[in-house]
Amino acid sequence: MKLLGVVMEKVHFTEEKATMLATLYGRALDSREADPVLGDHAADEAVRQIDYDFTKLGMTRDAAVSVVLRAKPIDAWAAAYLAAHPDAIVLHLGCGMDTRFQRLAPPPTAHWYDVDYPEVVALREKLYAAAPNHTNIGTSVVDFGWLDQVPADRPALIVAEGLTMYLTAGQGTELVRRLVAKFPSGELICDLFSRLGIKAQKLNPPVRKSGATLIWGVDDPRELERYGLTCVSSLDAGHWATPEVMARVRPVTRLQLRMLKYFPPLARMAHIVRYRF
Ligand SMILES: C[S@@+](CC[C@H](N)C(=O)[O-])C[C@H]1O[C@@H](n2cnc3c(N)ncnc32)[C@H](O)[C@@H]1O
Repeated sequence: MKLLGVVMEKVHFTEEKATMLATLYGRALDSREADPVLGDHAADEAVRQIDYDFTKLGMTRDAAVSVVLRAKPIDAWAAAYLAAHPDAIVLHLGCGMDTRFQRLAPPPTAHWYDVDYPEVVALREKLYAAAPNHTNIGTSVVDFGWLDQVPADRPALIVAEGLTMYLTAGQGTELVRRLVAKFPSGELICDLFSRLGIKAQKLNPPVRKSGATLIWGVDDPRELERYGLTCVSSLDAGHWATPEVMARVRPVTRLQLRMLKYFPPLARMAHIVRYRF
């Protein structure tokens, strides 16, 4: 899947739909670094084709670090699943403008579904070229009828990055229940905010500036095991203070990253989790 190279596309998104412009911009900023963490150059190409003042979302060079440090392990876990299950169905939920399909280049035997609200999918279709093993679905993930469009007889890789916190607990757990019931086996890779992370949401500039509201907090990833999942790996924000990142960020951000190591409840405000079912 390539970018279509369209002329500048003007956009207007609000609330949770606007947050995907912040994360796209975060990946673009990282790709402009001499030593990028993720190196998502397609994200930068997309940003250059969208007529929007990306600077107004509070996504700075330092804040971009948290975006790419979340994406990188998710990419690695997803790539491992695809290597082991080349016939997988991939559901990329709350995909926003993420170019994960380009980054991972799934084999032609896998089929990838990018799922987000219709307005977001409409922008994807303007900017990103179609591919035979790729389908966009424009819907709320909790209008569950969309699941009928997806075959149920293959292993499933489900990725939901930056999505769960926008759902209510009831919507999120019902989504998990339906996904686990639908497929013979699979993995769910997602991130979770703790209840403290939800309380502290106004300290998160892209959330505050987009006017989005974060709702669902999960303190311990194992809380979701009661819905048929087994937690196989989880990372909290303590892993963010890598040497490459510490060298890049401003002293104040460096201090904040160090604090994550010494105050575990702060580090546990965000988890990236790999579940099996
Ligand atoms: C923080 S952005 C993350 C986007 C993308 N995963 C990324 O990492 O760049 C949140 C995304 O979730 C989408 N979203 C939130 N609630 C949703 C829902 N109920 N159904 C579908 N998409 C939803 C938003 O439209 C937005 O694209």
